Amino acid sequence: MNKTVLAAIVVVIAMLGFTYVAVGSAGGMGGEGDWVNKLAVLGAVVLVIVTAFVVTKYVRQMQSDTAGGQLADENWDGIGEYKNELPFGWAVIFLGSIVWAMWYFLAGYPVNAYSQIGEYNDEVKAHDTKFEAQFAKMDDATLNAMGESVFIVQCAPCHGLQADGMDGKAANLHERIAEKSVKHIVMNGANNFKTDYAGGMPPMLLQDPAQVDAVAKYVASGFKADDAAGKAAYAAGTCNTCHGENGEGMPSVAPKINGWEAGMVATVLKDGKKGAIGAMPAFTNLTAVQTKALGAYVSSLSKK
Ligand code: HEC
Ligand code: HEC
Repeated sequence: MNKTVLAAIVVVIAMLGFTYVAVGSAGGMGGEGDWVNKLAVLGAVVLVIVTAFVVTKYVRQMQSDTAGGQLADENWDGIGEYKNELPFGWAVIFLGSIVWAMWYFLAGYPVNAYSQIGEYNDEVKAHDTKFEAQFAKMDDATLNAMGESVFIVQCAPCHGLQADGMDGKAANLHERIAEKSVKHIVMNGANNFKTDYAGGMPPMLLQDPAQVDAVAKYVASGFKADDAAGKAAYAAGTCNTCHGENGEGMPSVAPKINGWEAGMVATVLKDGKKGAIGAMPAFTNLTAVQTKALGAYVSSLSKK
């Protein structure tokens, strides 16, 4: 018998002995314990024997093997390389792992299985549904009060507790829109509200700076009937064809620009807004009731 085989047999016996000592009676080697433990120990024994067999085979092969096969053309300082076929089993396992990885990534564990984040999201969803049902019917005062409290938490950091925009850091919500914002939009166009007004507003509808000034003043000051220059510029820029004669807006075509309404506030929250003042982030984490409440609150501000 070859020395390597002898060594392998010694190792197997040693490891089996070690396993017996380690698991002892708890492993059920002596008849106690349950069948799961017995199976596990049996598996360990099989693993030890197979490992010893495989290692022995390769160690012996290394002792007796001589190099053979076809050399590749390249060599580095006389050191060459054999052209080896890709082992079939290896290739199958390689491709199999790619397929398995895709399945795992797209449909397997991370998406479908239990996770703490998933459980948290489920709980938040359940709570939101309960919350929506509880507040489905509210009188205006309650709705406004809820809007104000959400506003203080979510919006006041930028818009200020008084919703005055904190010296121009964000929009002053007591007015529908600032003069400089109207000017900016008329010159540059806008396409912030893609979910409600997919077409956006084209730029440069008015070229004459005096007309741009006039229309900005007219819109920002709330469509004053006695502002003839503003009215004329509004018509010259064809603003009325989309926004309506007095800025009341048109569904899916252009927003209301003569005052706030809950739907327009919801649009701003859904898509966010970049304009002359800065960037307002979208708020996708608000519930429908909270959005409605904010709409009522912001609308009530501009009516004062
Ligand atoms: C082709 C239709 C169209 C015309 C004409 C048009 N608008 Fe608009 N306007 C829109 C749309 C759509 C939006 C929403 C843009 C967005 O998604 O950001 C908008 C947005 C605005 C806003 C900003 C609303 C907000 O809260 O951000 C103002 C102010 C405005 N328009 C004024 C004007 C004026 C003044 C004119 C005329 C010079 C005019 N618009 C002409 C379609 C139009
Ligand atoms: C990170 C700062 C920030 C936060 C937080 C924020 N906003 Fe804004 N918001 C802005 C800025 C900046 C503008 C002006 C964008 C522009 O240049 O027209 C704005 C504009 C607006 C407008 C006017 C958009 C228009 O069409 O004229 C409304 C309405 C609004 N915000 C409501 C809210 C509400 C409600 C909240 C809370 C849920 C909120 N904002 C939170 C920064 C913020």
